[in-house]
Amino acid sequence: MKLFDVYPLFDIEIVRGNGCYTYDSHGTEYLDLYGGHAVISVGHSHPHYVQAIKEQAEKLVFYSNSVINSLQQRLADKLGKISGYDDYQLFLINSGAEANENALKLASFHTGRSRVISFSKAFHGRTSLAVEATDNPRIISPVNNNGNVTFLPLNDIDAASAELAKGDVCAVIIEGIQGVGGIKIPNDDFLQQLRSECDKYGTVLILDEIQSGYGRSGKFFAHQWAGIRPDIITVAKGIANGFPMGAVLISPKFAPTYGMLGTTFGGNHLACAAAIAVLDIFEQEKLVDNARQVGQHLLAELSQMPQIKEVRGRGLMIGIEMENPVKELRTRLLMEQHVFTGVSGTNVIRLLPPLVLTIEQADEFLRRFKNCLNN
Ligand SMILES: Cc1ncc(COP(=O)(O)O)c(C=O)c1O
Repeated sequence: MKLFDVYPLFDIEIVRGNGCYTYDSHGTEYLDLYGGHAVISVGHSHPHYVQAIKEQAEKLVFYSNSVINSLQQRLADKLGKISGYDDYQLFLINSGAEANENALKLASFHTGRSRVISFSKAFHGRTSLAVEATDNPRIISPVNNNGNVTFLPLNDIDAASAELAKGDVCAVIIEGIQGVGGIKIPNDDFLQQLRSECDKYGTVLILDEIQSGYGRSGKFFAHQWAGIRPDIITVAKGIANGFPMGAVLISPKFAPTYGMLGTTFGGNHLACAAAIAVLDIFEQEKLVDNARQVGQHLLAELSQMPQIKEVRGRGLMIGIEMENPVKELRTRLLMEQHVFTGVSGTNVIRLLPPLVLTIEQADEFLRRFKNCLNN
């Protein structure tokens, strides 16, 4: 059987990882400024994480959501404390798209409405309503194109207010920082005004923190820079450092009923053990602070480079916009300098490294990046 060929691949097989480094099948070492697309939060194969997964696998990998799984409550307690959302409720699933799907479903149940507001360049995943709320017609199939979603320009509060005033919007969904859209940060005052307009018109505010959350921005959630509290927050990617998991943080104003949401694999024992280990490491190694400090250093250094058109970001979520398309630059960084990076659109290099990146490793990246720019 052949693989369904949907991914353009680099001719590299990564077989091993350690902290911020990965190694290919020939033993070549790569500095990882991409984190496998913002997934690796606590570094590759962190010993505490590996041990936790090993121990849990030896005991129990999975049992269904029809019996008590105290690991789920342990995770909820830890996550509530570290994120500042102790009073919220937690629903566990397996991916980011699923998190958004459930968040939107909950908003619709809660309000009895079906219209959603999303923003230009938004990316929310590839399933049913998550993909309909994604501003990329190429990945919305006819069956997903149901006219539920209105796209508005980011940071345009007048446009948002006018739509919300129609009184039929169940949810506004917005990324803490747009990732796929090119590291675009919603203005703090825009988020604050959006919060109050949603309150005014009875609309649920959903913050998609799947890429920008879990410490990446230098606060636990990127929206915390604006000092707002959304009704629902979605997370995935870094939550279990590569073990597939997603979560929905739900305000106390939403009352659950049996059967309202559900999943087979979501919140399974192995995933919870991985996610608890991730938060242990966050605490022990103060990774949110590290992301802020190392991110500040990178942003300051990159903004000195004359070849760069613009540098945007917060913490370790950084976009480097160049005058010209970056495809060749990214390939040279990987093949010649052995550095993994991501891209957004045509002209932006995206940095999404593990949150354990040190200042020395950041400087090493800067050296290799300059090598590419200057030769
Ligand atoms: C902001 C955002 N939302 C949702 C998703 C979808 O997550 P997943 O691929 O785990 O379904 C992504 C993935 O890149 C994302 O960046």
